[in-house]
Formats: sequence, C-alpha cells, structure tokens
Amino acid sequence: MRFSLHAVLFSSFAAAAQCSFQQQCSKLASKLKVDNATVWFAEYVAAGTTLSFPDTDASCGQAPVAVGVDFCRVALHVATSDRSGISMEAWLPRNWTGRFLSTGNGGLNGCLSYDDMAYTVELGFSTVGANNGHNGTAGTPFLNNADIVEDFAWRSVHTNVVVGKQISAAFYHKNHTKSYYLGCSTGGRQGFKSAQSFPEDFDGIVAGAPAVDFNNLNSWSGHFYSLTGPVGSPTYLTPDQWNAVHADIMAQCDGLDGHMDGILEDPTLCQYRPEALICPPGTPAGTSTCITGTQAGTVRGVFSDLYGENGTLVYPRMQPGSELLGTPYIYYAGQPFQFAADWFQYVVYNNPDWDPTTLGPADYAYSDALNPSDIRSWSGDLGAAQARGAKILHYHGQQDQIITSSNSPRYYNHVAQTMNLPSSALDDFYRFFRISGMGHCTGGPGATFIGQGRGASASLDPDQNVLTAVVRWVEEGKAPDSILGTAFVDGAAAGGQVAFQRRHCKYPLRNTYTGKGDPNDADSWECVV
Ligand SMILES: *[C@@H]1O[C@H](CO)[C@@H](O)[C@H](O)[C@H]1NC(C)=O
Ligand SMILES: *[C@@H]1O[C@H](CO)[C@@H](O)[C@H](O)[C@H]1NC(C)=O
Ligand SMILES: *[C@@H]1O[C@H](CO)[C@@H](O)[C@H](O)[C@H]1NC(C)=O
Ligand SMILES: *[C@@H]1O[C@H](CO)[C@@H](O)[C@H](O)[C@H]1NC(C)=O
Ligand SMILES: *[C@@H]1O[C@H](CO)[C@@H](O)[C@H](O)[C@H]1NC(C)=O
Repeated sequence: MRFSLHAVLFSSFAAAAQCSFQQQCSKLASKLKVDNATVWFAEYVAAGTTLSFPDTDASCGQAPVAVGVDFCRVALHVATSDRSGISMEAWLPRNWTGRFLSTGNGGLNGCLSYDDMAYTVELGFSTVGANNGHNGTAGTPFLNNADIVEDFAWRSVHTNVVVGKQISAAFYHKNHTKSYYLGCSTGGRQGFKSAQSFPEDFDGIVAGAPAVDFNNLNSWSGHFYSLTGPVGSPTYLTPDQWNAVHADIMAQCDGLDGHMDGILEDPTLCQYRPEALICPPGTPAGTSTCITGTQAGTVRGVFSDLYGENGTLVYPRMQPGSELLGTPYIYYAGQPFQFAADWFQYVVYNNPDWDPTTLGPADYAYSDALNPSDIRSWSGDLGAAQARGAKILHYHGQQDQIITSSNSPRYYNHVAQTMNLPSSALDDFYRFFRISGMGHCTGGPGATFIGQGRGASASLDPDQNVLTAVVRWVEEGKAPDSILGTAFVDGAAAGGQVAFQRRHCKYPLRNTYTGKGDPNDADSWECVV
C-alpha cells in the first residue's frame, strides 16, 4: 500500500509539473515582448517526438529530427531592417542546465541547423537557431538587397543571440549562466565573427572549418574552373585520374607521419610532385592510371597557393589528401562552382547574367575591396573576447574538400601576429586542433567523431567531445590539450564497432606515430613539435 500511495503522489506531482511546463510554454507566445518580433507559435514538444519541418525551404534538404527530451519550441520572425529579417527558433528544455547556446549555418544558407539544435537541447542547453536572413541554399535572395547580405554577414547570429537570451530568461524567469556557440563552415566563420565583433555574445565558442577571409574564399573556390577547364579539355582530369592522383599523393606523403594508413596527419608537410604520374611514351589514349604533362600542370595549380593582382595572396592551397571526398570532385567537375558563382552574381555584381567562367584576378581584387558588411571575418584581434574570459576551440578536418585546412593555421598565425602572442599565451583563450582524415566538418577515413554534431559524437567525455570540452574549459578552467577522436568500422554511425581512436593535436604540434605499438591505439602516437 505504501508503494501504491507513493506512486499516486508521485504521478500526480509529475502530472502537475508537466502541466505547468506545458502551460508555461503555450503562454510564452502571448507573454513575449521582443522589439520588432512576430511570434509564430510556442508549442510543447514531448521527448520521443520526431519533428518534421514542412515550412522549411526544400533546398535545405532537412530530414525529420527525433528529439529525446521534453522542450518548449518557440518560432518567431524578427525584423532587422524595413526590408530584411530573420526567422528564428528557441528550444527550451524542461531539464535546463542554465546554459544558453546558439547554432550557426552553412554554405550560403538560409537553413536552421535543426540537427545541432536537437543535439544541444538534449544536452540541456536552451538553444537557438536562425535562418541567416533568408530561406534556402541559393544566393538569389541577396540580389540588390544589402540588408539581407548584412544579416548573412553578422546580423542574423547576433540578433538571434540577443533575442534568444531574452526568450530564455522570460521562460525560465532566470538568466542563463554561460553562453555557447557551435558551428562549422559558414558556421565556423560566424563563430569567429562573433568573437571578433560581438565578444559579449559568447563565453565559449566551437568553430569548425571556418569560412574566414570569406571574399577570397569565394574567389579561390571559383578559380578551380580556370585550372580544369570544361569536361574533356586537355587540362581536365577524369574522376578516375583524380583517384590515381590521390593514390600517388599517399605514396609520396602518407609515410611522413610514420604510418601508412591513408591519412596525412599534417598535410602541410606534403609537397606533392604530380609530374611523377605523367604517362610514359606509348601509353594508350584514355588510360586513367596516369596523366599528361598538361594535366600535371592542373594538379600542381590545385595544390599551389592562389595569387592575385600584384602578387598578393588570395587564398592558400588546397591541402593534398582530400581528392576522394568530393561529390564527385566538387571543384574539379569541369564546371564553375555554384556557390562562388552565386556570390559574384547576386552579391558582388548584382547581375544574374555575370558569367562565372570569366572569373579572374580583377574580380578577386574587386570583391575583397567591396567586402560587404565586413563579411571577410578576418580580424586577428580577439582581445575583447580574451579580456572577458571567453574560450575559443577551433578545429579543421585535414581532408577538407571544400574549405582548405591550409587556411586555418594561416588564421591562427594571423591572430598570433596581430595580438603579438606566442602559442603559450594564446593557449589561455584560443586553441586550434587539426583533425586528421576528416573532410568538411564531418566524414572521412580518420577518427572524425569528436562531438562536433549529434551524428558525430562518440562520447560526451570532454576529452573526446569538442562541445563538452569547451564547457569544461569555460566552467572549470580545464583547457583541452588534445581531442581524442573515434573512427567506426565501415564508417558506421556512433555505437558501431570502434575501428580506432586517435588523439588530435593542438596546433602547432603534429601527431606522429611513435613506431611502437598498435597504430590503432591512440597511445601509440604523440604530439611533437
Ligand atoms: C521563410 O520561411 C519561413 C518559414 O520557416 C516563412 O514563414 C517565411 O515566409 C519565409 N520567407 C520568405 C521570404 O519566403
Ligand atoms: C526595429 O527595426 C527598426 C527598423 O525597422 C530599427 O530601426 C530598430 O532599431 C529595431 N529595433 C530593435 C530593438 O532592433
Ligand atoms: C537532467 O540533466 C542532468 C544533467 O544535467 C542529468 O543528470 C539528469 O539525468 C537529467 N534528468 C532528466 C529527467 O533527464
Ligand atoms: C538578467 O540580467 C539582466 C542584466 O544583464 C537584468 O537586467 C535582468 O533583470 C536579469 N533577469 C533575471 C530574470 O534575472
Ligand atoms: C595592383 O596595383 C595597381 C597599380 O598600382 C593598383 O591600382 C591595384 O589596386 C593593385 N591591386 C591590388 C589587389 O592590390
């Protein structure tokens, strides 16, 4: 009897608590007073719900998302000017840790990062996401509207954070304790932009594969067509020939880290010589295991820094090793890269008829000088973030097929020069990790599960998870010295059989096989100068 009485009391207590959380959620819509905002809805979402997103632009390709905790979902529109605004959502968990988090975006989008919102709401953050000022993945909304570009450059994330913190406080009747950011690619750029220009927004930032030096990144990503030419031209390589180039890169460079495994721990050491792959005289036409001298020139161009007018550096080289991760061969497909074409047509020139096959040094110089809303995001002064005690965890996949990982040490060193600080001092607030064998933000043959997203989290242990690592750094002062990544057999999802683990080193240290012990054991490797 005592048990059943206890059960009755407990369940009615639980029902009352549930009721009040649900009621608080539905009341939030009418209660919120946010300038320039229109609240669309506030609705309770029960643990185990699979959310689908019928209002999301189809180009976002957003799959339904299952969420494992109870939360209150709020959606609203916030005007940012008389001709622009953001769509945003706040996800407020029942079991709140007191922490706030903002997600970012990717590419030129236009799409809320619902998967990152699910990941972080499940970890007890009140989490926000926004559409970056426009819907969908295309650049067309930017045409003749500098305000939408401004949202994309910085205003969407900043507005989302300012409003999101208000919503969180209104809902819980309590301010957040610490504020975090999680993003990759354009999301990585947004993280650094926040640290550079809005240092009050975050206490801890995880910024992956950051699209910093953004104007020049677009010039660089657009320039590959000038190397390859169209499909079938003498300068163009077939996908099979790129496979051969990849194998040759591994033959020349894979041993530099002491172990041949298809993973270059430090691609900056690889000075690949494509001329080794030139076909011997008499090779039948159409052979795909070797290349012509002209094609070797294309390959050498891909792996060389890009210089523009007057010999100025536009962007550093594609790192060798990423050739197999293109889908298929994003930059080497024999056509102009869409993302760069959109940027020049709809932002730089406001001219949809501008021909992306003509992209050249004059365009590089023009777009970087234009630098709309300072989207460059290249300030090397992180002093304001440092001064308020913020921590920045930067990571970059060393087989990134979209944003070359060569640009991340360049940014790190730019910060070091600008702030006049050696690594021992940068370590107090800014650390950069090179994730070997990882493509753009996720994927690849390396130990790529580092907690950068829900689908790439092998563990919540802060030694193995970039997000919980930054939380520990901010809240306990224990900074990460390395990130232990996990690879699963056959590229399976987390929970599958572990293939191997490897510790990713803090730049400028590089990971090297000791020559002793099982190379699948992280302890058989060391971070060396
Ligand atoms: C963007 O998408 C939201 C739904 O997420 C919709 O309410 C809004 O009208 C869309 N905006 C435009 C300009 O299409
Ligand atoms: C509201 O929007 C107007 C422009 O439409 C702007 O001038 C004003 O600063 C905005 N208010 C806030 C609090 O953002
Ligand atoms: C609430 O979160 C804490 C960690 O912050 C966790 O230990 C606990 O199990 C969670 N409770 C529920 C009911 O999810
Ligand atoms: C939150 O902090 C602000 C100051 O940053 C203060 O004005 C406000 O009253 C606080 N709100 C709550 C609910 O504690
Ligand atoms: C290159 O030099 C010319 C002539 O001095 C100058 O007008 C132009 O701005 C320079 N371009 C760049 C990208 O510095």
